[in-house]
Amino acid sequence: MSMIFFRCVCFLRTLGAQRTATIVRAVKVFCGLFLIAHIGCVYGQSRKTIDFNDGWRFKLADELQFRRPDFSDQTWQPVVLPHDWSILSDFGADFPAGNAGGALPGGTGWYRKTFHIAETDKGRNVRVDFGGAYRYTEVWINGHYLGKHSNGYLSFGYDLTPYLRYGERENAIAVRVDNSQQPNSRWYSGSGIYRDVQLTFTDHVHMEQDETFVTTPVATEEKGTIRVRTTLRNPREERVSLQLRVFDRDGRVVAEKNTSVKGIHIDETIDVLRPALWDVASPNLYRLELLVQSAKGAEIDRLAYKIGFRTIHFDVNGGFSLNGKHLKILGVCLHHDLGALGAAFNKSAAKRQLLIMKDMGANAIRTAHNPPATELLDLCDELGLLVYNEAYDMWQKRKTKFDYHLDFKEHHIADLKAFIKRDRNHPSVILWSIGNEIREQFDSTGIALTREMAAVVKQLDDTRPVTAALTETNYDKNFIAQAKTLDVLGFNYKYEDYDKLPKEFAGVPLIASETTSGLQTRDVYDPLHDTIQFWPASSKDKFVTNGNPDFTVSAYDNVAAYWGTSHERAWLEVKKRDFLGGIFVWTGFDYLGEPVPYPFPARSSYYGIVDLAGFPKDVYYMYQSEWTDKDVLHVLPHWNWSTGDTVDVWAYYNKAEDVELFLNGKSLGKARKTDERLHAAWKVPFEAGELKVVKYRNGRPVQETVRRTAGQAAKLQAKVAYERFRTGDPRDLYFITVELVDEAGIPVVGQDMELTFTTEGPCEVVGTDNGYQADLRGLTSSHRKTYKGKALAVVRKKENAGKGVLRVKSTLGETKIELPQL
Ligand code: GAL
Repeated sequence: MSMIFFRCVCFLRTLGAQRTATIVRAVKVFCGLFLIAHIGCVYGQSRKTIDFNDGWRFKLADELQFRRPDFSDQTWQPVVLPHDWSILSDFGADFPAGNAGGALPGGTGWYRKTFHIAETDKGRNVRVDFGGAYRYTEVWINGHYLGKHSNGYLSFGYDLTPYLRYGERENAIAVRVDNSQQPNSRWYSGSGIYRDVQLTFTDHVHMEQDETFVTTPVATEEKGTIRVRTTLRNPREERVSLQLRVFDRDGRVVAEKNTSVKGIHIDETIDVLRPALWDVASPNLYRLELLVQSAKGAEIDRLAYKIGFRTIHFDVNGGFSLNGKHLKILGVCLHHDLGALGAAFNKSAAKRQLLIMKDMGANAIRTAHNPPATELLDLCDELGLLVYNEAYDMWQKRKTKFDYHLDFKEHHIADLKAFIKRDRNHPSVILWSIGNEIREQFDSTGIALTREMAAVVKQLDDTRPVTAALTETNYDKNFIAQAKTLDVLGFNYKYEDYDKLPKEFAGVPLIASETTSGLQTRDVYDPLHDTIQFWPASSKDKFVTNGNPDFTVSAYDNVAAYWGTSHERAWLEVKKRDFLGGIFVWTGFDYLGEPVPYPFPARSSYYGIVDLAGFPKDVYYMYQSEWTDKDVLHVLPHWNWSTGDTVDVWAYYNKAEDVELFLNGKSLGKARKTDERLHAAWKVPFEAGELKVVKYRNGRPVQETVRRTAGQAAKLQAKVAYERFRTGDPRDLYFITVELVDEAGIPVVGQDMELTFTTEGPCEVVGTDNGYQADLRGLTSSHRKTYKGKALAVVRKKENAGKGVLRVKSTLGETKIELPQL
């Protein structure tokens, strides 16, 4: 390059001086541009991944001609992925998924998109990757059929290279998503391309991303070793080298290694001295970069992985340990929907859920009962949450008529492999579950299937235990356990049997993979019974026979499905047994579908510690008082009753010997929790005014909290949450909580009213919710009635320029909320 420049200048010197100066400048500019372009195409351009979510069109209809490249889709609805068409509807009794499936429609829909690929990309490999689509998905590129995918929760992709058109010529991709066979799920699945789509360009020589396996065989405070195994696609067997670099959080290189690559298999290690270990309190991550270079040093491919140095161990007697230290797993089960967004994945909405759980003290989640979005695992890596990662809810034997059992025989091994390969590089993942409450545990076919699948998992990942969530506590009747190949056994419910498990299933570490199934509606309080109420009462009933006419369940922790128990009881039973590695509570959040104990109009679950809108139920604070070191004091219920009522008052607290209750300044006595009851309790004749609880540590008051009787609703109070849930994704959301309060700012729970949300500027309302399980208005509506004084609006910024404003109208007038800049 410099030689060309030198020759040009020598030639120009022979011309006049002024002209020469101009021409030299022009040549310099040209050479500069050439250099930039040259560097640009050699370095950093080798692998390019682009967001492929914009510019799609959608139609909820099914015609074969939609696959044709020249089909005109101009009248179709423009959509941005991820997209869930089911959530756009109001809830209804007649949708074939039933209320267990969320009382929303299925059907078959098509997505189309046209796009250009530059001439300069000719010769490169181009593939499209779908993070997940529900459910049967078929893809065509320029009229060529690429294939059919049947697992609604797994990622899949296709090589587009042979069928692409370059330059001016347009490409057309068409995707048919069929969710018409119903019911096919025990919970709300969503419909459509509900996760991210990406396009990836690579050189003809490149690393096979799915074949890359990164482990940390040494993870101590003195030394961390990273082992990388990958396969190189190198059809012409060109000579290439590999550079490994490890960066710390601040972007400093802490280890580097260059090696030449022989053949297509790469198996290398690199050491990091005195690494900061990854754990739930300090999720320290490093970045490993793999750079493949040509013999001349040009970049051919580059991949990067987040590395967490950590060790995990499950012990038969001692439970779980992380980095050699005992850690009780404090987990919650989560389904994949994101409340008002339905199944459409959004990273900031997922981060919000995870942070609400983490603030409660949870250190783990179970991805019930399917592979999650990979971005969810990224978040768990970053936030320090352990993941119990689950493959299946059924095998050959069905749970619903059209579920994955229909595809199991043909696809379960390939799908399991794809699942493990996709997720095995996440430090947060600590367990692979091959199934939840699988019916084959009750017959001998369970043995062979368990062995087959456990072997597949272990062959692809020898660093993590394989488990399954079981219900059969007799070894003789449990054919999954009899396969004797699982490393950890999970048991769902049946805490009465916990003590017999170590003998029945001798030698295998145990975990409470699912517990509780308590039922609650936020801020609803019915008179207390002395014992737990089971709704429904037994397997004889499908629904509760004497429930509440408004389809609510009391939020005192005293109602559960008959196979479950209260939150307190379930946690106490796990807490006192060291041999149980931990707990996964059913569930962290309410989710769409499975609204036990009610028929329609109930359409979302009652199991959550937090409601569907993300508002904590009272029991959230029981967990926080037990699972964190924060000073917790929470009193329930609200203080709006009638004279003559006797109200049960409970307080959740920690780090104190007792708490004292005052009503309008008069002490009603001290109370304390016990080893068997995790709250203090009083019976209080109602009197309007102020209810105050004071917490005493070493005899001294250290914390207090009050509930006040509210007057008439006078205004709306709004809080915008954004900053904490930001992820850097352009689709990050604002979460606005609106609360009815009286003149003095006291929350009003008994005067719910209709709210209308409108926006100004570059933003739009994408969802609203109030947490009430039987609200039949669709969750993408801009109108929402408050429930017990609260509602949520979810707002998306359409572009980064300009200020967004959200207005909330009600009979109280209008509130204007300025949305902070991104
Ligand atoms: C469990 C099951 C969960 C959910 C739960 C409801 O048995 O594993 O998926 O159905 O019951 O209580």
